[in-house]
Amino acid sequence: MSFRTLAQISEITDDRPLAVDAGDFDVAIVRHEGDWYAIHDECSHARVPLSEGDVEDRSIECYLHGSRFDLRTGAALGLPATQPVPVYPVRIVGDDIQVDIDNPIVFDPHPLTTTHQEN
Ligand code: FES
Repeated sequence: MSFRTLAQISEITDDRPLAVDAGDFDVAIVRHEGDWYAIHDECSHARVPLSEGDVEDRSIECYLHGSRFDLRTGAALGLPATQPVPVYPVRIVGDDIQVDIDNPIVFDPHPLTTTHQEN
């Protein structure tokens, strides 16, 4: 884990994503219903910023074509996007919003399944 301070709590308004520079990419930080989220700030469909979309029901909507992404997992919840976007662990230290950008959580829509083999 390598959390970095990317913003201050005082910069955030509920349900209004804040785009922050995380180095090689941007992250959208969101406070929604008392919880904190950090999601890659790029739609998996056509690479527009998710931070310009609306937040509702623990998801963020892409403003361009309307796909929603789960803020907890990054999973695409509706077409036209079919691929997830990374989300990142967040912690609050004082007024600092710290994000672990080196350890994204990438939702796997097709997890490996195990089979039970009878002898
Ligand atoms: S660009 Fe986001 S759904 Fe199309």
